[in-house]
Amino acid sequence: MKVGVPKESLDGETRVAVTPDMVQRLKKQGIEVHVESGAGDAAYLSDELYEKAGAVIEKSAADVYTRADVIAKIWAPREVEGEKHEVELLRRGQTLVSFLYPMTNLDLVRRLAEAGVTALAMDQVPRISRAQSMDALSSQSTVSGYMAVLQAAQASPKFLPMLTTAAGTIPPAKVVVLGAGVAGLQAIATARRLGAQVKAYDVRAATKEQVASLGATFIDMPTFGEGDAETEGGYAKELGEERQQREREHLAKFLAEADIVITTALIPGRPAPLLITEEMAAGMQPGAVILDMAAETGGNCELTEPGRTVEVDGVIVMGPVNMPNTLPLHASRMYA
Ligand code: NAI
Repeated sequence: MKVGVPKESLDGETRVAVTPDMVQRLKKQGIEVHVESGAGDAAYLSDELYEKAGAVIEKSAADVYTRADVIAKIWAPREVEGEKHEVELLRRGQTLVSFLYPMTNLDLVRRLAEAGVTALAMDQVPRISRAQSMDALSSQSTVSGYMAVLQAAQASPKFLPMLTTAAGTIPPAKVVVLGAGVAGLQAIATARRLGAQVKAYDVRAATKEQVASLGATFIDMPTFGEGDAETEGGYAKELGEERQQREREHLAKFLAEADIVITTALIPGRPAPLLITEEMAAGMQPGAVILDMAAETGGNCELTEPGRTVEVDGVIVMGPVNMPNTLPLHASRMYA
Protein backbone atom coordinates (compact mmCIF):
# COMPACT_ATOMS: atom_id res chain seq x y z
CA MET A 1 0.00 0.00 0.00
CA LYS A 2 1.12 3.56 -0.74
CA VAL A 3 0.22 6.53 1.45
CA GLY A 4 0.43 9.99 -0.11
CA VAL A 5 1.06 13.19 1.84
CA PRO A 6 0.38 16.38 -0.14
CA LYS A 7 1.42 19.80 1.15
CA GLU A 8 -1.60 21.45 2.81
CA SER A 9 -3.07 23.93 0.34
CA LEU A 10 -4.64 26.32 2.87
CA ASP A 11 -2.80 29.63 2.94
CA GLY A 12 -0.62 29.88 6.01
CA GLU A 13 -1.20 26.29 7.14
CA THR A 14 1.95 25.08 8.85
CA ARG A 15 1.04 21.51 9.74
CA VAL A 16 1.59 18.31 7.79
CA ALA A 17 -0.48 15.13 8.14
CA VAL A 18 2.38 12.61 8.40
CA THR A 19 5.70 13.24 10.18
CA PRO A 20 9.01 11.44 9.48
CA ASP A 21 8.77 9.27 12.64
CA MET A 22 5.40 8.05 11.37
CA VAL A 23 6.93 7.35 7.94
CA GLN A 24 9.35 4.99 9.70
CA ARG A 25 6.52 3.23 11.51
CA LEU A 26 4.52 2.83 8.31
CA LYS A 27 7.60 1.51 6.46
CA LYS A 28 7.98 -1.20 9.12
CA GLN A 29 4.46 -2.33 8.23
CA GLY A 30 5.41 -2.51 4.55
CA ILE A 31 3.62 0.75 3.66
CA GLU A 32 5.35 3.13 1.24
CA VAL A 33 4.99 6.86 1.87
CA HIS A 34 5.07 9.49 -0.89
CA VAL A 35 5.47 13.07 0.35
CA GLU A 36 5.12 16.25 -1.71
CA SER A 37 8.36 18.22 -1.66
CA GLY A 38 8.16 20.95 0.97
CA ALA A 39 5.09 19.44 2.69
CA GLY A 40 6.76 19.60 6.09
CA ASP A 41 8.84 22.78 5.63
CA ALA A 42 6.63 25.02 7.77
CA ALA A 43 6.80 22.47 10.59
CA TYR A 44 10.61 22.31 10.33
CA LEU A 45 10.41 18.86 8.75
CA SER A 46 12.59 19.02 5.65
CA ASP A 47 12.46 16.73 2.61
CA GLU A 48 15.79 15.36 3.83
CA LEU A 49 14.27 14.21 7.11
CA TYR A 50 11.46 12.48 5.22
CA GLU A 51 13.94 10.85 2.85
CA LYS A 52 16.06 9.63 5.78
CA ALA A 53 12.92 8.11 7.28
CA GLY A 54 12.38 6.23 4.03
CA ALA A 55 9.79 8.38 2.22
CA VAL A 56 9.77 9.05 -1.50
CA ILE A 57 9.72 12.79 -2.26
CA GLU A 58 7.39 13.82 -5.10
CA LYS A 59 7.70 17.08 -7.06
CA SER A 60 4.01 18.02 -7.03
CA ALA A 61 0.71 17.32 -5.32
CA ALA A 62 -0.53 15.77 -8.58
CA ASP A 63 2.32 13.21 -8.43
CA VAL A 64 1.40 12.32 -4.83
CA TYR A 65 -2.26 11.83 -5.75
CA THR A 66 -1.33 9.72 -8.78
CA ARG A 67 1.00 7.36 -6.87
CA ALA A 68 -0.92 6.86 -3.60
CA ASP A 69 -3.72 4.49 -2.62
CA VAL A 70 -4.45 6.48 0.54
CA ILE A 71 -4.19 10.28 0.79
CA ALA A 72 -3.45 11.62 4.27
CA LYS A 73 -4.35 15.27 4.80
CA ILE A 74 -5.37 17.63 7.56
CA TRP A 75 -7.93 19.83 5.80
CA ALA A 76 -10.78 18.38 3.75
CA PRO A 77 -10.31 18.70 -0.03
CA ARG A 78 -10.86 22.32 -1.01
CA GLU A 79 -10.92 24.75 -3.90
CA VAL A 80 -7.40 25.98 -4.55
CA GLU A 81 -7.11 29.35 -6.29
CA GLY A 82 -6.02 29.01 -9.89
CA GLU A 83 -5.95 25.21 -9.64
CA LYS A 84 -8.30 22.24 -9.68
CA HIS A 85 -10.58 21.51 -6.71
CA GLU A 86 -8.68 18.92 -4.69
CA VAL A 87 -11.55 16.45 -5.08
CA GLU A 88 -10.67 16.28 -8.76
CA LEU A 89 -7.20 15.03 -7.88
CA LEU A 90 -8.68 11.98 -6.15
CA ARG A 91 -9.68 8.92 -8.18
CA ARG A 92 -12.17 6.07 -7.89
CA GLY A 93 -11.09 3.49 -5.31
CA GLN A 94 -8.71 5.86 -3.54
CA THR A 95 -9.05 6.48 0.22
CA LEU A 96 -8.88 9.88 1.85
CA VAL A 97 -8.11 10.44 5.54
CA SER A 98 -8.66 14.02 6.72
CA PHE A 99 -10.91 16.25 8.77
CA LEU A 100 -14.18 16.38 6.85
CA TYR A 101 -17.08 17.58 9.06
CA PRO A 102 -19.52 15.69 6.79
CA MET A 103 -22.64 17.06 8.53
CA THR A 104 -21.84 20.60 7.46
CA ASN A 105 -19.97 19.73 4.24
CA LEU A 106 -22.68 17.80 2.41
CA ASP A 107 -21.71 19.05 -1.05
CA LEU A 108 -18.17 17.82 -0.57
CA VAL A 109 -19.39 14.44 0.72
CA ARG A 110 -21.58 14.10 -2.40
CA ARG A 111 -18.65 14.95 -4.66
CA LEU A 112 -16.46 12.38 -2.91
CA ALA A 113 -19.19 9.76 -3.22
CA GLU A 114 -19.68 10.53 -6.93
CA ALA A 115 -15.93 10.27 -7.45
CA GLY A 116 -15.95 6.81 -5.80
CA VAL A 117 -13.58 7.88 -3.03
CA THR A 118 -13.68 6.27 0.42
CA ALA A 119 -13.40 9.09 2.93
CA LEU A 120 -12.48 8.63 6.57
CA ALA A 121 -13.37 11.74 8.59
CA MET A 122 -10.97 12.26 11.48
CA ASP A 123 -13.58 14.41 13.23
CA GLN A 124 -15.98 11.45 13.35
CA VAL A 125 -13.70 9.09 15.29
CA PRO A 126 -15.71 8.18 18.41
CA ARG A 127 -14.55 9.93 21.58
CA ILE A 128 -14.15 6.65 23.46
CA SER A 129 -11.17 5.21 25.30
CA ARG A 130 -10.49 2.54 22.65
CA ALA A 131 -10.17 5.19 19.95
CA GLN A 132 -8.14 7.67 21.98
CA SER A 133 -4.96 7.31 19.96
CA MET A 134 -6.91 8.33 16.82
CA ASP A 135 -8.72 11.23 18.48
CA ALA A 136 -7.44 14.10 16.36
CA LEU A 137 -10.05 16.51 17.74
CA SER A 138 -8.56 16.01 21.19
CA SER A 139 -4.94 16.20 20.08
CA GLN A 140 -5.48 19.45 18.21
CA SER A 141 -7.61 20.90 21.05
CA THR A 142 -4.77 20.12 23.43
CA VAL A 143 -2.49 22.27 21.29
CA SER A 144 -5.09 25.06 21.15
CA GLY A 145 -5.64 25.09 24.92
CA TYR A 146 -1.92 25.36 25.58
CA MET A 147 -1.31 28.05 22.97
CA ALA A 148 -4.35 30.04 24.15
CA VAL A 149 -2.71 30.60 27.53
CA LEU A 150 0.67 31.50 26.02
CA GLN A 151 -0.91 33.99 23.62
CA ALA A 152 -3.13 35.55 26.28
CA ALA A 153 -0.16 35.76 28.68
CA GLN A 154 1.84 37.55 26.02
CA ALA A 155 -0.96 40.04 25.41
CA SER A 156 -1.45 40.66 29.14
CA PRO A 157 0.39 43.60 30.71
CA LYS A 158 0.95 41.49 33.86
CA PHE A 159 3.04 38.56 35.10
CA LEU A 160 1.20 35.27 35.59
CA PRO A 161 3.19 33.87 38.55
CA MET A 162 3.49 35.41 41.97
CA LEU A 163 6.90 37.05 42.32
CA THR A 164 8.61 38.11 45.51
CA THR A 165 11.38 40.43 44.41
CA ALA A 166 13.46 43.28 45.71
CA ALA A 167 11.23 45.54 43.61
CA GLY A 168 8.16 44.36 45.46
CA THR A 169 5.73 41.48 45.52
CA ILE A 170 3.62 40.74 42.48
CA PRO A 171 0.41 38.80 43.15
CA PRO A 172 -0.41 35.84 40.87
CA ALA A 173 -2.64 36.59 37.89
CA LYS A 174 -6.27 35.51 38.06
CA VAL A 175 -7.26 33.35 35.12
CA VAL A 176 -10.82 32.23 34.40
CA VAL A 177 -11.42 29.38 31.95
CA LEU A 178 -14.96 28.93 30.61
CA GLY A 179 -15.64 25.50 29.14
CA ALA A 180 -13.59 22.65 30.57
CA GLY A 181 -13.48 20.16 27.69
CA VAL A 182 -10.18 19.04 26.20
CA ALA A 183 -8.95 22.55 25.29
CA GLY A 184 -10.22 24.11 28.52
CA LEU A 185 -8.54 21.51 30.72
CA GLN A 186 -5.25 22.01 28.89
CA ALA A 187 -5.62 25.78 29.30
CA ILE A 188 -6.20 25.30 33.04
CA ALA A 189 -3.14 23.06 33.35
CA THR A 190 -0.96 25.49 31.38
CA ALA A 191 -2.09 28.55 33.35
CA ARG A 192 -1.44 26.66 36.60
CA ARG A 193 2.05 25.71 35.43
CA LEU A 194 2.71 29.39 34.80
CA GLY A 195 1.68 30.09 38.39
CA ALA A 196 -1.71 31.73 37.88
CA GLN A 197 -4.71 31.32 40.19
CA VAL A 198 -7.29 29.57 38.04
CA LYS A 199 -11.07 29.36 38.27
CA ALA A 200 -13.11 27.45 35.74
CA TYR A 201 -16.67 26.67 34.79
CA ASP A 202 -18.45 24.20 32.52
CA VAL A 203 -22.12 23.23 32.23
CA ARG A 204 -21.29 19.53 32.44
CA ALA A 205 -21.26 18.38 36.08
CA ALA A 206 -18.56 15.77 35.31
CA THR A 207 -16.00 18.52 34.78
CA LYS A 208 -16.13 19.69 38.41
CA GLU A 209 -13.79 16.94 39.56
CA GLN A 210 -11.53 17.30 36.51
CA VAL A 211 -11.10 21.03 37.16
CA ALA A 212 -10.28 20.39 40.82
CA SER A 213 -7.77 17.66 39.93
CA LEU A 214 -5.75 20.29 38.02
CA GLY A 215 -5.56 22.54 41.05
CA ALA A 216 -8.16 25.05 39.85
CA THR A 217 -11.34 26.17 41.61
CA PHE A 218 -14.65 25.24 40.03
CA ILE A 219 -17.11 28.11 39.80
CA ASP A 220 -20.29 26.81 41.42
CA MET A 221 -23.36 27.99 39.56
CA PRO A 222 -26.66 28.58 41.32
CA THR A 223 -28.24 26.77 38.34
CA PHE A 224 -26.37 23.53 39.09
CA GLY A 225 -28.85 20.79 39.99
CA GLU A 226 -31.38 22.09 37.45
CA GLY A 227 -30.62 18.99 35.42
CA ASP A 228 -27.25 18.06 33.98
CA ALA A 229 -26.45 19.69 30.69
CA GLU A 230 -24.64 16.67 29.23
CA THR A 231 -25.80 14.46 26.35
CA GLU A 232 -25.29 10.68 26.35
CA GLY A 233 -22.35 11.23 24.01
CA GLY A 234 -20.57 13.35 26.62
CA TYR A 235 -21.13 16.71 24.92
CA ALA A 236 -22.87 19.81 26.25
CA LYS A 237 -26.55 20.51 25.55
CA GLU A 238 -27.71 23.97 24.56
CA LEU A 239 -29.14 25.72 27.63
CA GLY A 240 -32.41 27.69 27.60
CA GLU A 241 -31.97 31.47 27.24
CA GLU A 242 -33.26 32.14 30.76
CA ARG A 243 -30.72 29.75 32.36
CA GLN A 244 -27.91 31.15 30.22
CA GLN A 245 -28.84 34.66 31.31
CA ARG A 246 -28.64 33.69 35.00
CA GLU A 247 -25.30 31.97 34.41
CA ARG A 248 -23.92 35.09 32.72
CA GLU A 249 -25.03 37.23 35.67
CA HIS A 250 -23.19 34.91 38.05
CA LEU A 251 -20.06 34.80 35.90
CA ALA A 252 -19.86 38.59 35.64
CA LYS A 253 -18.51 38.81 39.22
CA PHE A 254 -15.64 36.46 38.42
CA LEU A 255 -14.82 38.24 35.18
CA ALA A 256 -14.64 41.60 36.94
CA GLU A 257 -11.61 40.45 38.92
CA ALA A 258 -9.94 38.35 36.20
CA ASP A 259 -6.71 39.28 34.42
CA ILE A 260 -7.20 36.67 31.69
CA VAL A 261 -10.36 34.90 30.55
CA ILE A 262 -10.10 31.97 28.14
CA THR A 263 -13.36 30.79 26.63
CA THR A 264 -13.64 27.38 24.97
CA ALA A 265 -17.37 26.59 25.13
CA LEU A 266 -18.80 24.72 22.15
CA ILE A 267 -21.96 22.78 21.41
CA PRO A 268 -21.57 20.33 18.50
CA GLY A 269 -23.54 21.41 15.44
CA ARG A 270 -24.74 24.68 17.06
CA PRO A 271 -23.34 28.19 17.24
CA ALA A 272 -21.06 28.72 20.26
CA PRO A 273 -22.99 29.83 23.38
CA LEU A 274 -22.71 33.50 24.32
CA LEU A 275 -20.96 33.63 27.70
CA ILE A 276 -19.57 37.20 27.75
CA THR A 277 -21.77 40.09 26.67
CA GLU A 278 -20.43 43.52 25.80
CA GLU A 279 -21.69 44.73 29.18
CA MET A 280 -19.80 41.98 31.03
CA ALA A 281 -16.60 42.84 29.15
CA ALA A 282 -17.10 46.50 30.04
CA GLY A 283 -17.11 45.46 33.71
CA MET A 284 -13.61 43.98 33.41
CA GLN A 285 -10.37 45.71 34.45
CA PRO A 286 -8.39 47.71 31.90
CA GLY A 287 -5.58 45.49 30.62
CA ALA A 288 -7.65 42.31 31.12
CA VAL A 289 -7.49 39.85 28.24
CA ILE A 290 -10.32 37.75 26.80
CA LEU A 291 -9.09 35.01 24.47
CA ASP A 292 -12.09 33.51 22.69
CA MET A 293 -11.27 30.07 21.34
CA ALA A 294 -14.77 29.75 19.93
CA ALA A 295 -14.11 32.65 17.52
CA GLU A 296 -14.52 30.41 14.47
CA THR A 297 -18.00 29.20 15.44
CA GLY A 298 -19.66 32.47 16.40
CA GLY A 299 -17.64 33.30 19.52
CA ASN A 300 -18.32 33.04 23.26
CA CYS A 301 -17.83 36.81 23.61
CA GLU A 302 -19.97 39.43 21.91
CA LEU A 303 -16.93 41.56 21.08
CA THR A 304 -14.90 38.84 19.37
CA GLU A 305 -13.75 39.42 15.81
CA PRO A 306 -12.51 36.15 14.28
CA GLY A 307 -8.84 36.28 13.34
CA ARG A 308 -8.30 39.67 15.04
CA THR A 309 -7.33 41.22 18.36
CA VAL A 310 -9.35 44.29 19.31
CA GLU A 311 -9.23 46.54 22.34
CA VAL A 312 -12.50 47.81 23.76
CA ASP A 313 -12.28 50.28 26.65
CA GLY A 314 -8.93 48.82 27.68
CA VAL A 315 -10.04 45.18 27.50
CA ILE A 316 -8.06 43.16 24.97
CA VAL A 317 -10.27 40.72 23.04
CA MET A 318 -8.48 38.07 21.00
CA GLY A 319 -10.29 35.90 18.44
CA PRO A 320 -7.60 33.55 17.13
CA VAL A 321 -8.44 31.08 14.37
CA ASN A 322 -6.68 27.83 13.46
CA MET A 323 -4.69 27.75 16.70
CA PRO A 324 -3.06 24.32 16.20
CA ASN A 325 -1.21 26.02 13.36
CA THR A 326 0.81 28.02 15.88
CA LEU A 327 2.62 24.94 17.21
CA PRO A 328 3.21 23.13 13.91
CA LEU A 329 5.78 20.54 14.86
CA HIS A 330 3.97 18.98 17.79
CA ALA A 331 0.50 19.56 16.31
CA SER A 332 1.64 17.60 13.21
CA ARG A 333 3.28 14.92 15.34
CA MET A 334 0.09 14.39 17.35
CA TYR A 335 -2.14 14.40 14.24
CA ALA A 336 0.16 11.94 12.47
P1 NAI B 1 -16.32 20.77 22.96
O1 NAI B 1 -15.13 21.32 22.25
O2 NAI B 1 -17.51 20.37 22.18
O3 NAI B 1 -16.81 21.87 24.04
C1 NAI B 1 -15.91 22.44 24.94
C2 NAI B 1 -16.55 22.54 26.30
O4 NAI B 1 -17.52 23.60 26.35
C3 NAI B 1 -17.28 21.29 26.76
O5 NAI B 1 -16.68 20.80 27.94
C4 NAI B 1 -18.71 21.78 27.00
O6 NAI B 1 -19.34 21.12 28.07
C5 NAI B 1 -18.48 23.24 27.29
N1 NAI B 1 -19.68 24.11 27.20
C6 NAI B 1 -20.67 24.10 26.29
N2 NAI B 1 -21.60 25.06 26.56
C7 NAI B 1 -21.17 25.71 27.67
C8 NAI B 1 -21.67 26.80 28.44
N3 NAI B 1 -22.81 27.41 28.12
N4 NAI B 1 -20.97 27.20 29.52
C9 NAI B 1 -19.81 26.58 29.86
N5 NAI B 1 -19.28 25.55 29.17
C10 NAI B 1 -19.94 25.12 28.08
O7 NAI B 1 -15.91 19.56 23.90
P2 NAI B 1 -14.63 18.62 23.80
O8 NAI B 1 -13.49 19.28 24.44
O9 NAI B 1 -14.49 18.15 22.41
O10 NAI B 1 -15.05 17.38 24.74
C11 NAI B 1 -16.37 16.85 24.67
C12 NAI B 1 -16.51 15.61 25.48
O11 NAI B 1 -15.82 14.52 24.97
C13 NAI B 1 -16.05 15.76 26.92
O12 NAI B 1 -16.99 15.09 27.72
C14 NAI B 1 -14.78 14.99 26.97
O13 NAI B 1 -14.48 14.52 28.26
C15 NAI B 1 -15.13 13.87 26.04
N6 NAI B 1 -13.96 13.21 25.52
C16 NAI B 1 -13.73 11.89 25.82
C17 NAI B 1 -12.60 11.24 25.38
C18 NAI B 1 -12.35 9.80 25.71
O14 NAI B 1 -11.49 9.23 25.20
N7 NAI B 1 -13.11 9.21 26.57
C19 NAI B 1 -11.61 11.92 24.56
C20 NAI B 1 -11.95 13.31 24.29
C21 NAI B 1 -13.08 13.90 24.75
